[in-house]
Amino acid sequence: MIVRFLRVAFLVSFGTSSVLAGDQTGPFLAEPYLQLGHSAGVGKLDLLWLSTDADLAWKVEYRPGRHKGWRSTPGPRFRTVRVEGMPPHRVYEVTLRDLPPGSNFSYRVSLGDRLVFESEARAPKSAGQPHRFVAFGDCGDGSPNQKAIAHRAFQAHPDLVLIPGDIVYDRGRATEYRDRFWPIFNADAPSPDAGAPLMRSTLFVAAPGNHDIGARDLGKYPDGLSYFYYWSQPINGPEGREGGPMTSPLVGPESNRLAFREAAGPAFPRMANFSFDFGDVHWTVLDSNPSVNWNDPELRRWVAQDLAIAKGAPWRFVTFHHPGFHSSRSHGEEEQMRTLAPVFEAGKVSLVFSGHVHNYQRSYPLSFLPDAASTRSDFKKDRRVAGRWTLDRTFDGRTDTTPEGVIYLVTGAGGRHLYNPEQQDDTASWKEFTVKHVSKVFSMTVVDVDGQAVRVQQVGAEGQVIDQFVISR
Ligand SMILES: [Fe+2]
Repeated sequence: MIVRFLRVAFLVSFGTSSVLAGDQTGPFLAEPYLQLGHSAGVGKLDLLWLSTDADLAWKVEYRPGRHKGWRSTPGPRFRTVRVEGMPPHRVYEVTLRDLPPGSNFSYRVSLGDRLVFESEARAPKSAGQPHRFVAFGDCGDGSPNQKAIAHRAFQAHPDLVLIPGDIVYDRGRATEYRDRFWPIFNADAPSPDAGAPLMRSTLFVAAPGNHDIGARDLGKYPDGLSYFYYWSQPINGPEGREGGPMTSPLVGPESNRLAFREAAGPAFPRMANFSFDFGDVHWTVLDSNPSVNWNDPELRRWVAQDLAIAKGAPWRFVTFHHPGFHSSRSHGEEEQMRTLAPVFEAGKVSLVFSGHVHNYQRSYPLSFLPDAASTRSDFKKDRRVAGRWTLDRTFDGRTDTTPEGVIYLVTGAGGRHLYNPEQQDDTASWKEFTVKHVSKVFSMTVVDVDGQAVRVQQVGAEGQVIDQFVISR
């Protein structure tokens, strides 16, 4: 309610301003949202927002603990997005520091002395603190299903929301974020018909999917690839260079490529892969688009080293968009991420979260040995990966909670139309490694983590639990 009041106050006071004339939503093109920032760290979050390309007297204050006074951040830094097809606008960013891990804190944004936004939020959890996160992919299409899942996620009170790719349809364009992302995941009030005030209060992390960064043609979509300027995630992955094994070249007129590069800054191309710690989990986030060659020895070494450095963390989870192990007929041939299975096994990964396939699937704990032809380091266009899997069929997540191998989850039922509902009850159509396949309802994954155990529930849009299991160390 308070935000609504502030908006009204803002319009009364600033509605005639030449800078903001015609703007119906106050000073923001997207209201403030929380991110890890390019360098994640304990007690730290970045706050971002979008506004017009005009010099305004922004001020951000926050109270990093219940009994502390208000503290001002240094003036916001910003990057200007000047891409064809939309007015120039700015992505503002400030860093909030010294947040006690896991604490609730308040922040407020002012223009001059006038308050224009305020919210409560939760600081990231650190090692030793139990936490809950929610994961769902393939979400940002503006549909009623997306709104219902956003609202359901809000009701779960997560410490973290994870999107394993296909953040915004159809092409991850800046213009598409306006209708299909910000208003729903950062709505002013929670409602199953509208969405929820999630992004202002809860850290969001995303892996880029094919709809986000697969299309490289900036001639066709000058405002495409906006993942690289609207998200602020760690820049600690492999460096990558255009045309190399990690990054296919940008396409389109030079002026469009230049405009994109200026908007993205250091985030392109490196921010497509990164890692971070949250609570007792070390997360590795990867770009699974088929243009990336995960058979490249250097890229594989980066994943292996990232997991090895994190070996002291109680849990190691990985997320990327294209699942290596799933049973749907749709996208059945896209097995390219299977080649990393041995790296995950060596790195003692427990869970892998993907999307791309718009339903929910769980594998048996498994290990996988790809055959030699599938792991040649030169780029392989065929996305099939043959090999042999070994399944732990004794793990049931109730009486036996110690999996032998990696459990692969598909949680791609976050809003976009569902895939292959006819396969839910047709167990004969499932691959041997699939133990659960729910493709008739929209759903999200709710995970409660502590240092000893992880409890996973798959929750439908109506709140029904459609799968659950526990893993223990
Ligand atoms: Fe996808």
